[in-house]
Amino acid sequence: MKIFLDTAEIAEIRWAVGAGLIDGVTTNPTLLSRAAGAGDPRDLLQEICGAVAGPVSAEVVAVDPDGMYREGKELARLADNIVVKVPMLEEGLVAARRLSADGIDVNVTLVFSAMQGLLAAKAGAAYVSPFVGRLDDTGQDGMEVVAQLRTIFRTYEVDAQILAASLRHPRHALQAALAGADIATLPAAVLRQMLLHPLTDRGVDQFLSDWSKLGHHVQAEGTP
Ligand code: G3P
Repeated sequence: MKIFLDTAEIAEIRWAVGAGLIDGVTTNPTLLSRAAGAGDPRDLLQEICGAVAGPVSAEVVAVDPDGMYREGKELARLADNIVVKVPMLEEGLVAARRLSADGIDVNVTLVFSAMQGLLAAKAGAAYVSPFVGRLDDTGQDGMEVVAQLRTIFRTYEVDAQILAASLRHPRHALQAALAGADIATLPAAVLRQMLLHPLTDRGVDQFLSDWSKLGHHVQAEGTP
Protein backbone atom coordinates (compact mmCIF):
# COMPACT_ATOMS: atom_id res chain seq x y z
CA MET A 1 0.00 0.00 0.00
CA LYS A 2 1.29 3.44 -0.86
CA ILE A 3 1.19 6.21 1.75
CA PHE A 4 0.32 9.80 0.96
CA LEU A 5 0.48 12.69 3.41
CA ASP A 6 -2.81 14.54 3.84
CA THR A 7 -1.53 18.05 4.44
CA ALA A 8 -0.49 21.31 2.83
CA GLU A 9 2.15 22.08 5.48
CA ILE A 10 5.46 22.15 3.64
CA ALA A 11 7.52 21.40 6.78
CA GLU A 12 5.52 18.20 7.40
CA ILE A 13 5.96 17.17 3.77
CA ARG A 14 9.71 17.79 3.84
CA TRP A 15 9.99 15.76 7.07
CA ALA A 16 8.08 12.78 5.60
CA VAL A 17 9.97 12.90 2.29
CA GLY A 18 13.28 13.11 4.15
CA ALA A 19 12.35 10.05 6.21
CA GLY A 20 11.42 8.19 3.01
CA LEU A 21 7.86 7.59 4.21
CA ILE A 22 5.55 8.98 1.54
CA ASP A 23 4.66 8.41 -2.10
CA GLY A 24 2.50 11.49 -2.63
CA VAL A 25 0.41 14.24 -1.04
CA THR A 26 -3.28 15.08 -0.87
CA THR A 27 -4.58 18.54 -0.10
CA ASN A 28 -8.06 19.99 0.10
CA PRO A 29 -9.33 23.59 0.24
CA THR A 30 -9.45 23.52 4.05
CA LEU A 31 -5.84 22.32 4.40
CA LEU A 32 -4.55 24.64 1.67
CA SER A 33 -6.23 27.78 2.97
CA ARG A 34 -4.97 27.04 6.48
CA ALA A 35 -1.37 26.49 5.31
CA ALA A 36 -1.22 29.30 2.73
CA GLY A 37 -2.57 31.96 5.11
CA ALA A 38 -2.24 35.30 3.33
CA GLY A 39 -0.02 33.78 0.61
CA ASP A 40 -1.05 32.51 -2.82
CA PRO A 41 -2.16 28.86 -2.55
CA ARG A 42 -0.86 28.24 -6.08
CA ASP A 43 2.68 29.15 -4.99
CA LEU A 44 2.35 26.77 -2.07
CA LEU A 45 1.09 23.99 -4.37
CA GLN A 46 4.09 24.48 -6.64
CA GLU A 47 6.41 24.29 -3.65
CA ILE A 48 4.71 21.07 -2.51
CA CYS A 49 4.96 19.59 -6.02
CA GLY A 50 8.69 20.31 -6.03
CA ALA A 51 9.16 18.72 -2.61
CA VAL A 52 7.60 15.33 -3.37
CA ALA A 53 8.27 13.07 -6.35
CA GLY A 54 4.77 11.52 -6.43
CA PRO A 55 1.27 12.82 -7.18
CA VAL A 56 -0.10 15.89 -5.39
CA SER A 57 -3.90 16.25 -5.30
CA ALA A 58 -5.26 19.80 -5.57
CA GLU A 59 -8.98 20.41 -5.41
CA VAL A 60 -11.18 22.64 -7.56
CA VAL A 61 -13.62 24.95 -5.80
CA ALA A 62 -15.92 25.74 -8.73
CA VAL A 63 -19.27 23.95 -8.58
CA ASP A 64 -20.29 23.88 -12.25
CA PRO A 65 -18.74 21.48 -14.81
CA ASP A 66 -17.22 24.21 -17.02
CA GLY A 67 -15.76 26.03 -14.03
CA MET A 68 -14.36 22.79 -12.58
CA TYR A 69 -12.87 21.87 -15.94
CA ARG A 70 -11.26 25.30 -16.40
CA GLU A 71 -9.92 25.32 -12.86
CA GLY A 72 -8.64 21.75 -13.24
CA LYS A 73 -6.74 22.72 -16.41
CA GLU A 74 -5.18 25.68 -14.57
CA LEU A 75 -4.18 23.51 -11.61
CA ALA A 76 -2.67 20.89 -13.92
CA ARG A 77 -0.46 23.57 -15.48
CA LEU A 78 1.16 24.29 -12.10
CA ALA A 79 3.27 21.10 -12.15
CA ASP A 80 3.56 17.73 -13.89
CA ASN A 81 2.64 15.82 -10.73
CA ILE A 82 -0.63 17.64 -9.99
CA VAL A 83 -3.72 15.43 -9.73
CA VAL A 84 -6.96 17.39 -10.01
CA LYS A 85 -9.43 16.63 -7.24
CA VAL A 86 -13.14 17.05 -7.99
CA PRO A 87 -16.06 16.37 -5.65
CA MET A 88 -18.33 13.35 -6.18
CA LEU A 89 -21.17 15.34 -7.75
CA GLU A 90 -22.73 14.89 -11.17
CA GLU A 91 -20.99 18.14 -12.19
CA GLY A 92 -17.72 16.77 -10.82
CA LEU A 93 -18.01 13.60 -12.88
CA VAL A 94 -18.61 15.60 -16.08
CA ALA A 95 -15.46 17.59 -15.32
CA ALA A 96 -13.59 14.36 -14.43
CA ARG A 97 -14.50 12.84 -17.79
CA ARG A 98 -13.32 15.91 -19.69
CA LEU A 99 -10.09 16.32 -17.70
CA SER A 100 -9.18 12.64 -17.96
CA ALA A 101 -9.88 12.76 -21.73
CA ASP A 102 -7.25 15.53 -21.83
CA GLY A 103 -4.77 13.20 -20.12
CA ILE A 104 -5.04 14.82 -16.67
CA ASP A 105 -5.21 12.49 -13.66
CA VAL A 106 -8.33 13.08 -11.58
CA ASN A 107 -9.05 12.17 -7.96
CA VAL A 108 -12.78 11.99 -7.21
CA THR A 109 -13.19 12.95 -3.58
CA LEU A 110 -15.95 12.89 -0.95
CA VAL A 111 -16.95 9.34 -1.89
CA PHE A 112 -19.21 7.75 0.72
CA SER A 113 -20.48 4.58 -1.00
CA ALA A 114 -19.06 1.89 -3.26
CA MET A 115 -21.57 2.76 -5.97
CA GLN A 116 -20.40 6.37 -5.97
CA GLY A 117 -16.85 5.05 -6.31
CA LEU A 118 -17.79 2.84 -9.25
CA LEU A 119 -19.41 5.79 -11.04
CA ALA A 120 -16.33 7.91 -10.39
CA ALA A 121 -14.13 5.24 -11.98
CA LYS A 122 -16.50 5.03 -14.96
CA ALA A 123 -16.15 8.78 -15.43
CA GLY A 124 -12.39 8.28 -15.80
CA ALA A 125 -11.05 8.93 -12.28
CA ALA A 126 -7.49 7.71 -11.75
CA TYR A 127 -8.11 7.83 -7.97
CA VAL A 128 -11.30 7.29 -5.98
CA SER A 129 -11.29 8.62 -2.40
CA PRO A 130 -13.69 7.06 0.12
CA PHE A 131 -13.85 9.13 3.34
CA VAL A 132 -13.60 6.51 6.05
CA GLY A 133 -13.54 8.64 9.21
CA ARG A 134 -16.47 10.83 8.20
CA LEU A 135 -18.59 7.71 7.61
CA ASP A 136 -17.50 6.32 10.98
CA ASP A 137 -18.61 9.65 12.49
CA THR A 138 -22.17 8.91 11.35
CA GLY A 139 -22.16 5.48 12.98
CA GLN A 140 -21.44 3.54 9.79
CA ASP A 141 -18.41 1.38 9.01
CA GLY A 142 -16.36 3.53 6.65
CA MET A 143 -13.81 0.82 5.94
CA GLU A 144 -16.53 -1.39 4.48
CA VAL A 145 -16.67 0.96 1.49
CA VAL A 146 -12.94 0.44 0.90
CA ALA A 147 -13.36 -3.34 1.05
CA GLN A 148 -16.40 -3.26 -1.26
CA LEU A 149 -14.57 -1.09 -3.78
CA ARG A 150 -11.59 -3.49 -3.72
CA THR A 151 -13.87 -6.43 -4.53
CA ILE A 152 -15.71 -4.56 -7.28
CA PHE A 153 -12.58 -3.13 -8.92
CA ARG A 154 -10.88 -6.54 -8.83
CA THR A 155 -13.92 -8.37 -10.19
CA TYR A 156 -14.45 -5.97 -13.08
CA GLU A 157 -10.77 -5.11 -13.64
CA VAL A 158 -11.29 -1.43 -12.95
CA ASP A 159 -7.98 0.45 -13.08
CA ALA A 160 -8.82 3.36 -10.74
CA GLN A 161 -6.80 3.35 -7.51
CA ILE A 162 -8.60 3.27 -4.16
CA LEU A 163 -7.28 6.14 -2.04
CA ALA A 164 -8.53 5.64 1.52
CA ALA A 165 -9.01 9.12 3.01
CA SER A 166 -10.23 10.72 6.21
CA LEU A 167 -8.11 8.24 8.19
CA ARG A 168 -7.81 9.33 11.79
CA HIS A 169 -5.51 6.83 13.55
CA PRO A 170 -2.98 4.04 12.87
CA ARG A 171 -5.67 1.38 13.16
CA HIS A 172 -7.47 2.97 10.20
CA ALA A 173 -4.22 2.67 8.21
CA LEU A 174 -3.88 -1.00 9.17
CA GLN A 175 -7.50 -1.70 8.24
CA ALA A 176 -7.08 0.11 4.91
CA ALA A 177 -4.04 -2.04 4.10
CA LEU A 178 -5.91 -5.22 5.01
CA ALA A 179 -8.96 -4.15 2.99
CA GLY A 180 -6.77 -3.73 -0.10
CA ALA A 181 -6.62 0.05 -0.47
CA ASP A 182 -4.01 1.07 -3.04
CA ILE A 183 -3.18 4.19 -1.05
CA ALA A 184 -3.81 5.51 2.46
CA THR A 185 -3.59 9.26 2.89
CA LEU A 186 -2.72 10.24 6.45
CA PRO A 187 -2.26 13.38 8.51
CA ALA A 188 1.35 13.79 9.70
CA ALA A 189 0.29 13.13 13.30
CA VAL A 190 -1.07 9.70 12.36
CA LEU A 191 2.07 8.87 10.37
CA ARG A 192 4.18 9.77 13.41
CA GLN A 193 1.98 7.60 15.65
CA MET A 194 2.56 4.69 13.25
CA LEU A 195 6.31 5.01 13.77
CA LEU A 196 6.11 4.59 17.51
CA HIS A 197 6.02 1.58 19.79
CA PRO A 198 6.94 1.72 23.51
CA LEU A 199 8.70 -1.65 23.28
CA THR A 200 10.97 -0.28 20.53
CA ASP A 201 11.96 2.65 22.75
CA ARG A 202 12.47 0.38 25.74
CA GLY A 203 14.57 -2.01 23.61
CA VAL A 204 16.80 0.80 22.31
CA ASP A 205 17.29 2.17 25.85
CA GLN A 206 18.29 -1.26 27.09
CA PHE A 207 20.72 -1.94 24.22
CA LEU A 208 22.39 1.44 24.73
CA SER A 209 22.64 1.00 28.46
CA ASP A 210 24.16 -2.51 28.12
CA TRP A 211 26.57 -1.28 25.44
CA SER A 212 27.71 1.64 27.54
CA LYS A 213 28.59 -0.76 30.38
CA LEU A 214 30.74 -2.82 27.97
CA GLY A 215 32.32 0.34 26.54
CA HIS A 216 33.44 1.45 30.03
CA HIS A 217 34.85 -1.99 30.74
CA VAL A 218 36.86 -2.20 27.45
CA GLN A 219 38.09 1.35 27.83
CA ALA A 220 39.11 0.65 31.44
CA GLU A 221 41.15 -2.40 30.43
CA GLY A 222 42.93 -0.50 27.63
CA THR A 223 43.88 2.48 29.77
CA PRO A 224 47.11 2.34 31.74
O1 G3P B 1 -8.34 13.23 2.95
C1 G3P B 1 -9.52 13.84 3.35
C2 G3P B 1 -9.32 14.44 4.68
O2 G3P B 1 -8.61 15.63 4.57
C3 G3P B 1 -10.56 14.62 5.45
O3 G3P B 1 -10.28 14.20 6.70
O4 G3P B 1 -10.47 14.07 9.11
O5 G3P B 1 -11.43 16.04 7.88
O6 G3P B 1 -12.50 13.81 7.72
P1 G3P B 1 -11.23 14.55 7.94
